Amino acid sequence: MVGGKSEKNRRNLIMKTVLFAGGTSLLAKSWTRTVDDHFNYIISVNKRKLNDKNVKTITLDYSNPAKIPEQLKNNNVEILINCIGLTIVEECSKHPEKAIKANTIIPKILAKACKQAKVKFIHVSTDHLYNGDKSFYSEKDKKSPLNKYAETKSMAEDEIFSENKNSLIIRTNFFGWGPNYKRSFSDKIINSLESKKKIGLFGDVFYTPISVDELKKQIFNLISLNAKGIFNISSNERISKYDFGCRIANIFGCSTDLIYNSSIDDSKELVARPKDMSLSNHKLTTFTGIPIPSIDKQIELLKKQREEIFERPIIPYSRQNISERDIESVIDVLKSDFVTQGPVIQKFEKKLSEYCKAKYAFACNSGTSALHIACLSLGLGEGDLVWTSPISFVASSNCALYCNASVDFVDIDEKSYNMSTDSLEEKLLNAKKEGKLPKIVIPVHLSGQSCDMKRIFELSLEYGFKIIEDASHAVGARYEGLPVGDCRYSDITVFSFHPVKIITTCEGGMCLTNDSEVAELIYRYRSHGITRQPSQMTKVPDGPWYYEQLELGLNYRINDVQAALGLSQMSRLDSFVKEREEIARKYDELLSDSTVKTPEISPKCSSSWHLYIIRVKENNITTHKQLFEKFRTAGVLVNIHYIPIYRQPFYKALGFNKNKFPEAEKYYNEAISIPIFPGLKSSEQAKVVSLIKKPVGFQNIF
Ligand SMILES: Cc1ncc(COP(=O)(O)O)c(C=O)c1O
Repeated sequence: MVGGKSEKNRRNLIMKTVLFAGGTSLLAKSWTRTVDDHFNYIISVNKRKLNDKNVKTITLDYSNPAKIPEQLKNNNVEILINCIGLTIVEECSKHPEKAIKANTIIPKILAKACKQAKVKFIHVSTDHLYNGDKSFYSEKDKKSPLNKYAETKSMAEDEIFSENKNSLIIRTNFFGWGPNYKRSFSDKIINSLESKKKIGLFGDVFYTPISVDELKKQIFNLISLNAKGIFNISSNERISKYDFGCRIANIFGCSTDLIYNSSIDDSKELVARPKDMSLSNHKLTTFTGIPIPSIDKQIELLKKQREEIFERPIIPYSRQNISERDIESVIDVLKSDFVTQGPVIQKFEKKLSEYCKAKYAFACNSGTSALHIACLSLGLGEGDLVWTSPISFVASSNCALYCNASVDFVDIDEKSYNMSTDSLEEKLLNAKKEGKLPKIVIPVHLSGQSCDMKRIFELSLEYGFKIIEDASHAVGARYEGLPVGDCRYSDITVFSFHPVKIITTCEGGMCLTNDSEVAELIYRYRSHGITRQPSQMTKVPDGPWYYEQLELGLNYRINDVQAALGLSQMSRLDSFVKEREEIARKYDELLSDSTVKTPEISPKCSSSWHLYIIRVKENNITTHKQLFEKFRTAGVLVNIHYIPIYRQPFYKALGFNKNKFPEAEKYYNEAISIPIFPGLKSSEQAKVVSLIKKPVGFQNIF
């Protein structure tokens, strides 16, 4: 045996070029998933084509073995890891010719080619080589294959050494996150458990499974110590397949009741297999001196990795977060007697009014409908005027037009991007002189940061207007330490529960108020203007069936199915806001040395962080539009919140002039909302940040 445990040997392994034969295999896929300092990767693929950005792909020509050494030299390959194999035991017995080719002939060709090209050859063998009459097989134990798979794998080992004595052969049985097209044993167990399907696992088949990451680490150690010969790479614990499943269930928080303990003796249709495949790792650990963590520790790491490994092809700027519990609450309602106008709506309303400390809450079928009936309930009509912020969704001003009132905009504050209270005051002063004061002002809490409500409220007392807070972004936010939605400084507060918002009911909204008369009106406008309360009627009811329509109301009701989702989401509202806040803090930190301006939050506010808006100043690195396009091209679905409402053709036609809103104009030329939502992974956040920091045209590799 060449090599030893010296640190010096390990450090010698700097930037080797490794070729994986069988590049689509689980081992090659997970090895090359992360770029590291030690290896340049090349994968060889045959039928299936991969487009992994951080690896080079080639095709080795097995029909012309004489050419392979040249291919290896041309690609500067220094180590070849052979992961090719036909591993489905039944398939090997059904198609022995295929098994021989994949499991024996190709490894032999590769071992020979490596010798000729002076490339280190590493071959991945199996723990399946014995008859199972003992436990913890060592590398020296006699092989006695029970089936074609084992036979062809065993033959390969002998052939490899006859061609190339410096080869390293790894006997192992590993688990890990497999690619979509090839589910690993652990993937199958996790999929079944998480989709609540029963799964039978053998309680009488024992082995020593090792995670693919631990395997990778151990192979790396062996390479750096220049090992050759045969090495078992396995865990220290011998467990049954059934126990392995139960450990996964426990660590992944799934029920072990879904796993039934089956016996291989009852599976007569299966090709003969060993009942004990456990391997001893004594030789390995003595050689490397590096211990192997427990199986539980390895499964815990597997669970942690899931978050980081599965990259979304696109990253939205925000998205819903729906749990199993949310789904169960919705299903419960669907199975109940009421799917609309049942008891859950009131529970949802009560929960929200208590959370916000407002007296009344009425759920609607959207934030838009909530804004509309809020205006109606404050008596808005023809000849009246509403002022709002131009940097908002069109619903904030459309609600006034639905009531045949007129709209005007107040320019925004340069720090918070909310309605500027200085501009509001100035505009009110002028409007008073002209006799054109607004009936309602609708401050919008952009991105989840409250407007300066105290000051707006004081102005409302002086100038006699009513206030509707458009808090579509701000459920869960606070102002002066108290919840947004308590209506302390407003007549009505409106929330939206669109899926991108803090909590969702798919579509939905809510009106909150402390005024009992306004509450009655909201209640009626939401449902056709109808009352069933005798005290509100114009006459004594004709009978118990009687109702009266008092206003021209609408059908803006939410249903029980949506309310069940909202109620269930309420239990996670604070944790959603906390997670959004953590993401925001991380962006603040990561972007502190960049050229973009990050959000400023007033000390009076704690934001719900619906949006994280950066401002891109024109500079020599990138323009606003270039950066936006760069994000979209990279699959990061950033957005601009918002195109100033007065710029919309419909509003332009009403005569608005953009020159009257210089801050909103500047904002529109600079703002980009970058992804923020519970479940945004740190790797995704890093991708977003790196797109901001790298100049346009720089090729990012992920
Ligand atoms: C500020 C603002 N107001 C009102 C609305 C309308 O809410 P909904 O989509 O629930 O109708 C939205 C939604 O995008 C919004 O962002």
